[in-house]
Parts: sequence; C-alpha cells; structure tokens
Amino acid sequence: MLDMHCHIIPETDDGAKDMNITLKMGKKASQLGYDCILATSHYIIPNNQLENKEYLERIRKVNKEFEKNDINVTVYPGNEIFFTNDILGLITSKKVCTLANSRYVLIELPLYTRVVPFNVFEEFNKLQDAGYVPVLAHPERYDFVTESISNIYQLIESGVLMQVNIASITGKYGSNAKRNVIRMLKYNMVHFLGTDAHSVSVYSDYKRAMKKIKANIKSEEIYNNIMYGNPSMLLKDLPIPIIYPDM
Ligand SMILES: [Fe+2]
Repeated sequence: MLDMHCHIIPETDDGAKDMNITLKMGKKASQLGYDCILATSHYIIPNNQLENKEYLERIRKVNKEFEKNDINVTVYPGNEIFFTNDILGLITSKKVCTLANSRYVLIELPLYTRVVPFNVFEEFNKLQDAGYVPVLAHPERYDFVTESISNIYQLIESGVLMQVNIASITGKYGSNAKRNVIRMLKYNMVHFLGTDAHSVSVYSDYKRAMKKIKANIKSEEIYNNIMYGNPSMLLKDLPIPIIYPDM
C-alpha cells in the first residue's frame, strides 16, 4: 500500500522534526499496512527550496535508517509543489521531484480562493503537453471546491487527478473539507488517498477515517482502484485512464 502524500523527511519542511520522528512515522505507517511512501516535502518559492542532490541524499538516508530499524517501508522521492507559473521549468531543471520519478506531479493550490486561479488550466496544459500528469493535493480543502464541486469536474475532465487527505473525512480540516470529501467520493472524483502526515499524530485516527472513506465509496472496484490500482500504475509510470465523475 502506498501513501501518496507524506512529510516524512527530517528537518526539511514543517514535517518530521528529526530522524527520531521519521522513524516513528515509518513504524506507524508500516503497522497500518504501508510499504511505500512518497516523500512529498513542500516546495514553495521562495521558501523550502533545497538543492535536489541534498534532498535525494536525505531520502536515501531515511531508507537506510528504515532498513537498519527493520521498518519495511520504501520511501520514494516527490515534492508537494505550491502552484507557481513555471512548474515545468522547475521539473526540467530538476529543482523539484515528480512522484517516484514518474510522469505524475503533486501540486498544491492556494486554500482560500473561491475561484480556480486563472492560470491553473494554462500551467497544467503546459505540463500535460510535456507528458506530465498533474495530481492535485487535497482538493477537498480548497474554497473553490466548497464554492462549487463542478470546479473539480472541470479539472478531472482536463486530465488532472485528485489526491484526498484521509483525515479530511473525520473533520481534521473542518466541516467544509469533510463535506467536500464525502461529495467527491460519492461522485467518483477521487484517484488517490494520502495521509499528509507531518508527524505521528495523524495516524492515531487513521482506522476510523479509513472505515468512513470505505463506507462512502460506491463499489469495491472503485475502492481497489483508489487503494491499489492507481498507486501501482503511478509507481510503474503507466497511464491512469480518466474516468469521468458520476454527477
Ligand atoms: Fe502536504
């Protein structure tokens, strides 16, 4: 099982404070059934910019520590890229990592905007023309989704995939995010799940949240795609077919 979104690399962003926390997170993740984690450290211009070489070295070190401590989890490179004008340039100049070196790119938009920022489609198109697939981080948290769920429909229609935070369904990010995630599940608008863990605390309510998520997914087939099918395609860098939401 793959965690699509995790701030597990120590001393890199607002996630794991040190290697000790990283090890605790890895252990907990493994107990919950994860064997793969995408390290999605924030990449926000002008903050949180780490040399790629140094970042990959930190990921390598985490994997080594996991091995030493019998934690059966592999950490793959990635970034949670805060939306900016030249994401393609950041990728091609190797300033940011795609997810597990695949075509998939995790992108975060501003939380508090009631409309989709005007240049999002243009920037996403540029990425798609170059062969990349944008994956939107925690769309349920954005005000423009609360304003109108059809914004998500439009993005999916244009080939963007959706990664929902598991804890949104138990209200960790407020009542709007909770309502949005339930609607997104109902309309089949979710492609990936992630913990967005910044420390060990997010795992404490994990089982209850997963139970609620499962209860809101329409079929076993969709559940299996979200949990296993889509993540496995991502890790193999294979295309995930667009399935239009049922609205
Ligand atoms: Fe995140």
